[in-house]
Amino acid sequence: MCGIVGYAGHRAATPILLDGLKRLEYRGYDSAGVAVLDPEGCLAIAKAEGKLSRLVERLDGHQPIGVLGVGHTRWATHGAPNTVNAHPHTDSSGDIVLVHNGIIENYAALRAEMAERGHDFASETDTEVLAHLIGVEYDALRAGANGFRPLPHLFAEAVRRALKRVEGAYAVVAFHRDEPNLLVGARQFSPLVIGLGQDENFLASDIPALLAYTRQAMTLEDGELAVVQPGGVQVYTLDGQPVVRQPFTVTWDLAAAEKSGFPHFFLKEIHEQPDRLRDCLRGRITEGRVLLPELDGLDLRRVKRVRLVACGTAYHACLMGRTLIERWARLPAEAAIGSEFRYAEPMIDDHTLVVLVSQSGETADTLASLYLAREQAAQTVAITNVVGSTITRYADTSVYLRVGPEISVAASKSYLGQQSVLALLALYLAQQRGLMEADEAAEMLEALQTMPDEIEALLAHTDRVEGVARRFAHVRSFFYMGRGPNHPTALEGALKLKEISYIHAEGYASGELKHGPIAMLDPDLPCLAIATRSATYAKTVSNIQEVRARGAQVVALATEGDTEIARHAHHVLYVPATPEALSPIINTVPLQLFAYYVAIARGCDVDQPRNLAKSVTVE
Ligand code: AGP
Repeated sequence: MCGIVGYAGHRAATPILLDGLKRLEYRGYDSAGVAVLDPEGCLAIAKAEGKLSRLVERLDGHQPIGVLGVGHTRWATHGAPNTVNAHPHTDSSGDIVLVHNGIIENYAALRAEMAERGHDFASETDTEVLAHLIGVEYDALRAGANGFRPLPHLFAEAVRRALKRVEGAYAVVAFHRDEPNLLVGARQFSPLVIGLGQDENFLASDIPALLAYTRQAMTLEDGELAVVQPGGVQVYTLDGQPVVRQPFTVTWDLAAAEKSGFPHFFLKEIHEQPDRLRDCLRGRITEGRVLLPELDGLDLRRVKRVRLVACGTAYHACLMGRTLIERWARLPAEAAIGSEFRYAEPMIDDHTLVVLVSQSGETADTLASLYLAREQAAQTVAITNVVGSTITRYADTSVYLRVGPEISVAASKSYLGQQSVLALLALYLAQQRGLMEADEAAEMLEALQTMPDEIEALLAHTDRVEGVARRFAHVRSFFYMGRGPNHPTALEGALKLKEISYIHAEGYASGELKHGPIAMLDPDLPCLAIATRSATYAKTVSNIQEVRARGAQVVALATEGDTEIARHAHHVLYVPATPEALSPIINTVPLQLFAYYVAIARGCDVDQPRNLAKSVTVE
């Protein structure tokens, strides 16, 4: 995720752009930039690495003059977070300026085509390729290119034609020096909203960037393009058909707008998981195969075992991932806690692939494990959400989650991203080793690709989980139990409850309760059992009966359509059917919501729980 703003009006553009970017920093903050055009066509571009404050400092006292411009605050997906890769980007002429949020899947092919045409590129970004592509279309139009030309403005038509060649996700705002009163915005799978003012109009990734200037807004839908001028806005489909769109009035205050109307970032980030999972998977599954070009440089032939290392929630993802690697790639795989691994004198060598998972890429114990793995000549892969983080600078290669900044201390979307990337890794290894039947691989890839829709459907009805959660807001302790790939789900569910509600909770392998912990059960110690469809469903039902026999309340997580479970559990939360191997991804979502609603009922500070930090950079 990145933050984009655009302004076309009568006031100085730079302060408006910087203020808008400030309101969008929650969308990304590893570099920032603005480009401003004055009525005489004088263009000024300023960019800075790091947070927005660095750009503001750079502009202090000499902000670019002009009444039209664009701004961008970046969350890198392609190319390190530095000044060169910071947006805005330009084409070869320097006359076309562009900011972009999203992932252009076919950027490599487009870049090669542009290079063939003699284009040089200053950055590593997919965005710059689009600026050059627009320039090629613009030059062709000015040279008299014929063909269907539905948009009256030459530059807008050039943008339209260029976007018709793009595959992937984008929200773009662009302008051309020769048309100093015109912005062109467009979107596909990434958000962009229009703000309507008096002789001034705005474009932004999200509503917070508009609220200081207007509460009149207009949506732009996927596959649409907007021509924005000080005096008005015209929307078109990407096929050039005009669109009539009614404005709406924004009623949120600023704080609510930054959370998209949710009361907490944690709940917002739970609800944005479908879209973030789409971003995470985008371009990585095609024609029944997994594409992870980041791994092409590894020598997988010499890999005889896999060690996955992480802390906290990321460790739970490793436990899920190791099961899939062993099941599909038939490689011995183990998951280890970072703070233990680094002191355990682990047996790793040049036949070991060490996978380090870290949302922040800065966790000290995970980094120390990475350094140890390198010393032992293992090949190393980092799975992280932050481009340019420390872990990416020391691992042999990195695979990014692409779920955007995770503001809440408690992990949510990053966990689903970690599980999904590890599932892709397991499938990739199986694919490279020729060890997976095509139909099983196809089933798993299909399940991964439909997972965002399934989660979206689940999130449309959260009142039941809220109602059940409120019943348990004042218990002293809670057991979670799961089997197989859902043992880590039980651990993660317990961690979420502990982290944000401060209720003691423990996750167990379901079959383990009878080996001691069951002694604790009584009517005041409820148990959440993950009982979704699996080969061990009957055994889980037996475990539930053991728990009930001790008088404990049972909340079951079950597969839609399972009517038997209601005979065994006091409360049932349903999830859509998915293959057991991938069920931890969707099964986690009700547990996140359960923890959230318990914490709310207890009046806890959900986004900044006591004693915790978002990234544990100390040992
Ligand atoms: C999870 O909700 C916590 N925020 C914590 O356990 C976290 O997963 C752990 O500290 C690891 O952080 P990392 O993924 O940034 O390395």
